[in-house]
Amino acid sequence: MIINMAATMRSLVIGCCVVVFCFERARSALPIVVNTWPFTNATDAGYNVFLNGGSVVDAVEKGCSKCEVLRCDGSVGEGSDPDEDGEVTLDAMIMDGKTMDVGSVGCLRNISSAISVARMVMERTDHTLLAGELATKFAVEMGFKESDLSSNKSDTMFKQWRANNCQPNFRVNVSPDPKKSCGPYQPTESTRLLQENSRNDKGVGYLNHDTIGMVAVDKNGHVVSGTTTNGLNHKVPGRVGDSPIVGAGSYAQNEMGGAAATGDGDIMMRFLPSYTAVQLMGSGMTPSNAALFSIKPIIKFYPDFNGAVIAVNSKGEHGAACHGSGIGTFHYSVKDNPDQVNLFSVKCV
Ligand SMILES: *[C@@H]1O[C@H](CO)[C@@H](O)[C@H](O)[C@H]1NC(C)=O
Ligand SMILES: *[C@@H]1O[C@H](CO)[C@@H](O)[C@H](O)[C@H]1NC(C)=O
Ligand SMILES: *[C@@H]1O[C@H](CO)[C@@H](O)[C@H](O)[C@H]1NC(C)=O
Repeated sequence: MIINMAATMRSLVIGCCVVVFCFERARSALPIVVNTWPFTNATDAGYNVFLNGGSVVDAVEKGCSKCEVLRCDGSVGEGSDPDEDGEVTLDAMIMDGKTMDVGSVGCLRNISSAISVARMVMERTDHTLLAGELATKFAVEMGFKESDLSSNKSDTMFKQWRANNCQPNFRVNVSPDPKKSCGPYQPTESTRLLQENSRNDKGVGYLNHDTIGMVAVDKNGHVVSGTTTNGLNHKVPGRVGDSPIVGAGSYAQNEMGGAAATGDGDIMMRFLPSYTAVQLMGSGMTPSNAALFSIKPIIKFYPDFNGAVIAVNSKGEHGAACHGSGIGTFHYSVKDNPDQVNLFSVKCV
């Protein structure tokens, strides 16, 4: 991975200079590929599609696929972060900002290439979101192969979690006490008022939520976004996170831009941060400010949440914002030239 200091400096200067000048300086070349985290091999894979004359939809699919194959940080693709039963399930989406067409899959079982199945939903159905084992059935019809998504690593994670009395645990208001015991659980008679604003103790930390989210813009300003992840470690079976939810995990609209989110998806999806960031860019806000204002409403309700949003407008200007001590400084990857991926960082608010 290459950290381009010149590019980083340039991005820092933008905040305090004259607006007209800034736009000139901040503008990246098109095409551009931007993704969450230093997953630079994914950035390269996306950009290579442009170099080979492929489409922006191909770029996002191939870029996200790369992370599925590499199992980026264990949070993307098969083989890690099992649910309460030890099963690994995947969430993914792709959105075409030219047509506003979307394909997504939630809680996909037994198929490793989730982003490609999402693309099939977009291009081979009139639907937006397919879920669970019926999404698997669809994928098999479309030619994908079923396999076991667990690995020694996910099996070990599952066994250690069981041995640790199933901690951390995402159940509430059930008995036996989910803070002390494994299930099966039943609902308790009364529910207590939940203070859900501290999730750091449940392992919703850095390595448990680093979904890849990607935005690419081709030379004509055609914007596409995508995400793919295996979701939250030890999630309740059936849980679908923010990644495949339109406007939460990502959003794209030509002439405005694209955005993608990573972090505590159960919280973030309640606020549609990617949709918000794109709308704000559409009304003229810079990508950095749009990302920041997309997470501000979340902070008000969940002061401890961990999450980040990347935003790219249709001219290829980009920015990001993040929140939470679980992240601290957020890094994202940008490629707008054939030579190298640039890594940008923002301090979390
Ligand atoms: C990324 O690609 C480089 C060069 O192709 C390779 O050496 C490296 O191992 C890759 N990174 C990961 C995490 O696989
Ligand atoms: C589907 O995954 C489960 C584990 O989650 C595994 O037991 C099963 O063999 C897989 N099915 C196929 C057809 O690979
Ligand atoms: C996975 O675990 C099995 C035994 O449980 C072992 O034989 C095998 O070598 C392991 N595979 C890897 C890739 O570590």
